[in-house]
Amino acid sequence: MKKQLLASVLLLSVLSAYNQSGSGLIPVPVKYTGHKGHFKVSAGLSIIAPADGEIKKIADHLAFRIGKSSGIRPAVKTGSTTEPKSILLSVNESGNKTPGAYKLYITEEHIMLSASPGNYAGLFYGVQSLLQMMPAAIESNAANHTTQWLVPCGEIEDHPRFGWRGLMLDVSRHFFTVAEVKDYIDQMAKYKFNLLHLHLTDDQGWRIEIKSLPKLTEVGAWRVERTGTFGTMRKPQPGERATYGGFYTHEDIKELVKYAADRYINIMPEIDVPGHSLAALAAYPELSCTPGEYYVSPGDRFMVWPGGGQHFYGLLDNTICPANEKAYEFLDKVFTEVAQLFPFDYIHMGGDETARNFWEKSDAIKAMMKKEKLKNLDEVQSYFVKRMEKIINSKGKKMIGWDEILDGGLAPNAAVMSWRGMKGGIEAAKQGHEVVMSPTDFAYIDYMQGDAIIEPPVYSSLRLKKAYQFEPVPEGVNASLIKGGQANLWTEQVYNTRHLQYMTWPRAFAIAEALWSPKEKRDWNNFSARVEKHFERLDAAQVKYAPSMYDPIFEFSKNDTATIIAKMSMEIEGVSIHYSFDNSFPDQYYPKYTAPLTVPKDAAAMKVITYRDNKPIGRMIVMPVAEMRKRAGIK
Ligand code: ACM
Repeated sequence: MKKQLLASVLLLSVLSAYNQSGSGLIPVPVKYTGHKGHFKVSAGLSIIAPADGEIKKIADHLAFRIGKSSGIRPAVKTGSTTEPKSILLSVNESGNKTPGAYKLYITEEHIMLSASPGNYAGLFYGVQSLLQMMPAAIESNAANHTTQWLVPCGEIEDHPRFGWRGLMLDVSRHFFTVAEVKDYIDQMAKYKFNLLHLHLTDDQGWRIEIKSLPKLTEVGAWRVERTGTFGTMRKPQPGERATYGGFYTHEDIKELVKYAADRYINIMPEIDVPGHSLAALAAYPELSCTPGEYYVSPGDRFMVWPGGGQHFYGLLDNTICPANEKAYEFLDKVFTEVAQLFPFDYIHMGGDETARNFWEKSDAIKAMMKKEKLKNLDEVQSYFVKRMEKIINSKGKKMIGWDEILDGGLAPNAAVMSWRGMKGGIEAAKQGHEVVMSPTDFAYIDYMQGDAIIEPPVYSSLRLKKAYQFEPVPEGVNASLIKGGQANLWTEQVYNTRHLQYMTWPRAFAIAEALWSPKEKRDWNNFSARVEKHFERLDAAQVKYAPSMYDPIFEFSKNDTATIIAKMSMEIEGVSIHYSFDNSFPDQYYPKYTAPLTVPKDAAAMKVITYRDNKPIGRMIVMPVAEMRKRAGIK
């Protein structure tokens, strides 16, 4: 009897967790109530929508998605009342007015999706939620005739926490084609992101056609081809041709903007100045403070990051010269065309990581400082940023920049994108400026997501669990100034779309939930269980993701006799860690890790793998003793 009681209490708590999690949705909805039974998608299904072109497009999108994967092609009809076996899209005069809010009601007979008048994004997000409630096979590109297309009955009331839910994609370090960016947009839309920030220019390539400055793409979009580790590759060799790269024409941009808009995603362009500008200087070297020959960097070393709190410096001057009037004429032309191409309100002007060592020596900068009464190089940068804002505002746009634009004094109307932690954002908000949070600590998805011994090497690490702790509104800050946040994917080490996907998912799930869902719904165990279900969806969609959460976290220390102590832990529950020190491959019959291990004195490596339900779930990791010694601080 007691056992039965316990079993039913357990069942109830599982069911309530299921209810809380909104039937597995990412991001978790504001309110979900599960009911008994299922709606069955079967032949004869219709989608009914009012006579509104925009809603008809959303209905067509739903019909297309269902048809593509199930082979059951719903009929899209005009109307405003439900019928049996139908999905009704409707406008609810008293619905939640928050942009993106929707209500979804699923019974065995029909499905009803509604949003307030004009809240098309809400209907679109409701469709995404509905699709997420269908079996994972809905993500497949081929019709699957064996799946039971059941949707659990229930009710969802949902709206986003923030209006800015972004992903930044760096298309400069590696170029991604229009088709590849569209694929990225498709994936973003499924998780209710509404902003794609395109980092269009950097030292490694200028990626947007500027008709009045043709050399930007004739020269700046191309570099010599290198494969390897960023910052260590060979400079262009004499006679070598720059053939690697690409750029978006105006037509390409218009196509992308429209494609994204059809999925309720804005595209924000970034032109990163005055630093990160080698590609522009390769085309127009006269814009530099430092005469010389410039080339589009193939990933060679031209900046030095000494670490230990010392300021970075350039071996080459990769900045546009703030003391050169021609630079402002140039940027006026650039921003004129950029403003015409992108309907989004904001243009990002970069402003990050400006090397100062060449400015220090420049006579032109010295003369400008005297003339403009600028006390230091921060004020020089600030002078430049303020002029950028004037240009950008004159094109009818608002300006946003990385948090370095605070240095030397913020431009009067600028918004700040806080990346060096949250402090820049906090400072900007204190000064009354709008802020978008994208701190390295939680939102840099170019960082490694597991141990460096197995992940492709990048500067730093950010595990999924940490990304899930992203809280965009710091204590004591006026929350209304925090527009939202975004994850940033820099692509120095991202050469292709498979790896682009690997770096994005599942961490972008964590960011999507941090930006959409109520703060009090944050629950790591519940989230990580949902992530695993979404891996099935990514598999069906043939989208790559990182399985790093299945691999252990390592910590090495030493005891008094300089023996290595190996400590391992997991981000998620229910996984066992098995190991060997004898060079053989461990499996589930090998010793199971339960407590810190003393590494045998003569071992060469520790091999580790994780299992769940008798199946390997993590990757085979080989940790050489030399690496363990280094991390333990043993000489
Ligand atoms: C940045 O990561 N340099 C903005």
